[in-house]
Amino acid sequence: MDHFRYQYGQLYAESVPVDAIADAVGTPLYIYSKTTILDHVHRLREAFRSIDPLLCYAVKACSNLAVLRTLVGAGLGCDVVSGLELERAWLAGCPMEKVVFAGVGKSDDEIRAALDGRYSPLRDHASELAMPDPAGRGVVGVLNAESRSEVERIASIASELGVPARIAIRINPDIDAGAHDHTTTGRSSDKFGVPESEAAAICRDFFGHPHLRVIGLHVHLGSPIYSPTPYIRAIGTLTTLIDRVGAEGTRIEHLDLGGGIGADYETGQTPPFEVFADAICPAVRHLVDRGIRVALEPGRTIMGNAGILVVGVRHVKRQSGRRFVICDAGMNALIRPSLYGAKHFVWATRVEAGREPTERRFLPPSGEPCEVVGPVCESGDFLARGVDLPEVRLADRLAVFTAGAYGMTMASTYNDQPLPAEVMVAGDKVTIIRERQRPIDLIAPGIAHRGVAWQAEMAR
Ligand code: LLP
Repeated sequence: MDHFRYQYGQLYAESVPVDAIADAVGTPLYIYSKTTILDHVHRLREAFRSIDPLLCYAVKACSNLAVLRTLVGAGLGCDVVSGLELERAWLAGCPMEKVVFAGVGKSDDEIRAALDGRYSPLRDHASELAMPDPAGRGVVGVLNAESRSEVERIASIASELGVPARIAIRINPDIDAGAHDHTTTGRSSDKFGVPESEAAAICRDFFGHPHLRVIGLHVHLGSPIYSPTPYIRAIGTLTTLIDRVGAEGTRIEHLDLGGGIGADYETGQTPPFEVFADAICPAVRHLVDRGIRVALEPGRTIMGNAGILVVGVRHVKRQSGRRFVICDAGMNALIRPSLYGAKHFVWATRVEAGREPTERRFLPPSGEPCEVVGPVCESGDFLARGVDLPEVRLADRLAVFTAGAYGMTMASTYNDQPLPAEVMVAGDKVTIIRERQRPIDLIAPGIAHRGVAWQAEMAR
């Protein structure tokens, strides 16, 4: 499953004791396992091999550049949802033709930069960042459009720049994939995509446009999804639509089924990739045989179990039949438990022999239930509630598992808590891939660059 394992009571990230990393780097700290990332990619690819999909990693899951470089190096493209995610993909070396640019509300500037690298916001920083001039990087592979109004904006900007835009229309198939209400995206009441009839009308109206071509259809039903059934239903809808628009001249060559495949928050929670692939591959086979390339946008399933959050214990107190373990980070570093009621298995990084967890699943507490909480001034600031946890003392550390996806990318500085550091482990090699945020950068961002100008501002 992953490369975070206990040996003789000590949690290891690949071959390195987690406590040794925390001693050197401090907490709170995200640790990613490179071997796990690459294993997940390999297994996903193998499962879907018969249709050879274009895998575009969903950058929003974990956007650290070292993580992106690892994935791009393994041949993945990128699914980006903002102009700056696009820049990250570019910085990580992703060829633009392997980028799909989604997002329900792209700005004109973001669309411009996607069509022509001369409009990249990093252009003035190319030498500082030791990167080639983005001007010549070309057009993104596909822009996923979510409304007629957006298609019109893209057409107009593409015409202004004289660049041909390839778009995929995001379909809202009115399918409830059963994810959390906040992350279920394929119901007609959700803001995403357009109904099939509107997609067909857009194809008709833009057919033959000199600067915009509808080449694909896109769907993303929600996240996480624990069964292939919603995908199969969506493929049915999309197949009918492909034939319908085809009869009117629009040849679909790209079919993007989005992301959503779950991760194992609790041991065995998510079916293996084969269960998804064995249902999806036969359902799209006839389309692939007609020359349509299937794309997938996996995020969580690659990164979820490839990362842990390590927090330090600051205090332990017992109150009203509960044990409160107060840590140096909570919702500021990992908001998923507070925001979605998500369950992340938490355990001490060092335990007595025999107390290593055999699976990642909260058992009913044997004694007093434990509340694992952070320092933030809200009762909603918790990492786990009412759980079983070994006895811990001040300065011990806890590992929060399956935190590699939507952990750091959703972290905030609420209560002026600096953002955690991030580390990548590969075998016995440990690399700091993002320094802990410095207090000065949190309190006075840009001061290092602005120097005297800043002092003048403060004096006013
Ligand atoms: N493609 C699109 C268009 C998406 O909106 C998403 C996720 C993905 C792909 C990747 O989905 P994945 O394979 O990672 O499930 N913050 C929430 C998850 C929000 C997902 C948003 N979109 C969480 O922590 O659970």
